[in-house]
Amino acid sequence: MRSRIASTKLVIVMVGLPARGKTHIARRVARYLNWKGVSARVFNVGSYRREHIGAHQPHTFFDPTNPEGMAARERMAVAAMEDVARWLEHDGGHVAIYDATNTTIARRRRVEAFFTARKAEVVFLESTCSDPAIIEDNIRSHKIRSPDYKGQDPDAAVADFRRRIAHYEAAYEPLDDSCRYIQTVDVGERVVINHIRGWLLGGVVNLLTCLHTQPRTVYLTRHGESRFNSAGRIGGDTPLTAEGEAYAERLTAYLRTKIDGPGVEVWTSTLERTRATARRLPWKSFPLKALDEIDAGAFDGMTYEEIAKKHPGDFAARKLGKLTYRYPQGESYIDVVNRLEPVILELERHRGPLVIVGHQAILRVLYGYLTDKPLQEIPHLSIPLHTVIELTPIAYGALEERVPLT
Ligand code: F6P
Repeated sequence: MRSRIASTKLVIVMVGLPARGKTHIARRVARYLNWKGVSARVFNVGSYRREHIGAHQPHTFFDPTNPEGMAARERMAVAAMEDVARWLEHDGGHVAIYDATNTTIARRRRVEAFFTARKAEVVFLESTCSDPAIIEDNIRSHKIRSPDYKGQDPDAAVADFRRRIAHYEAAYEPLDDSCRYIQTVDVGERVVINHIRGWLLGGVVNLLTCLHTQPRTVYLTRHGESRFNSAGRIGGDTPLTAEGEAYAERLTAYLRTKIDGPGVEVWTSTLERTRATARRLPWKSFPLKALDEIDAGAFDGMTYEEIAKKHPGDFAARKLGKLTYRYPQGESYIDVVNRLEPVILELERHRGPLVIVGHQAILRVLYGYLTDKPLQEIPHLSIPLHTVIELTPIAYGALEERVPLT
């Protein structure tokens, strides 16, 4: 499977009118693929325009009857395509996400011909939206805050952006069934696929069915201190210490002040220490096997010193390559990523506040996804005991707060 993915050269070509969430979707897809170990990168043509031509362009620049504007935009589109091709051919890239409007058939044909001539597969990913409230929200909360409208009166910026959209609407041509595409309508309310097959794109489709734009916070915390924690032993299924129980109390009091309203869920592992930590929380709790700590296999219950002494080869191998090292009869971090994929999809889908009471390795992997950390860094992320990590998705990332409850 890995070697097949390693030979993948795929370009996902975004399609859609302005303010349809293309960049948001492109980034979410890239984050998801990178987290799964598939190297993915977004090439945003708008950034090329801002860098090479300047951010402040009035709507007339985007008018299809303006020849200078058209020529400048075409130059930027080609510059980005050339960078995509270079990245795929020479820099080990697997999935490039080419983020531009690509709303006419002629443009899509040119893009497809360019990449297929360079032996890359092309799939179109269109975001359409018929709900005026979603478009309005996107314009007001993202577009007019972009460098394109920096320092401008918000109402004038909205009016200009609407005229920019109108130029694209005048030239828009829908996708036709002769090309491979995924189309997401009204932020995943409907997802249409045409000639889409396989593990990689199937995963992307799954993700798109789960995405939403409702603001909510995800609270991540390790369980309270366990008997094995205090003894420096890994794994096991031991109860909380008195200090761990005290943390469970403090956590409950704190989260009660932070969370309210319907739709709250608590997810724990099936192990005693996470369930005991969540026991006092007043919301519905779900023990999930997929959230159990990394399986240390034959070394479960040992201290790191014992492993170093009795199995120096394994100890050194893990130190050298913690992401891929697999414990004898146990798991690697990559194994954990694979088993957490359904959890990530459900986490994306859930719309209310979410509390996850988990374990060190598990939370590294979930936190790494939510904050878009490179896979190699994930096994080394700091997830201390007795600390709540609060992540609230914003535009293209997540706001983070760490609250130690000591
Ligand atoms: O020590 C607590 C613990 O949750 C162990 O059960 C687990 O093996 C370990 O952390 C994971 O952290 P690392 O990958 O750094 O060993």
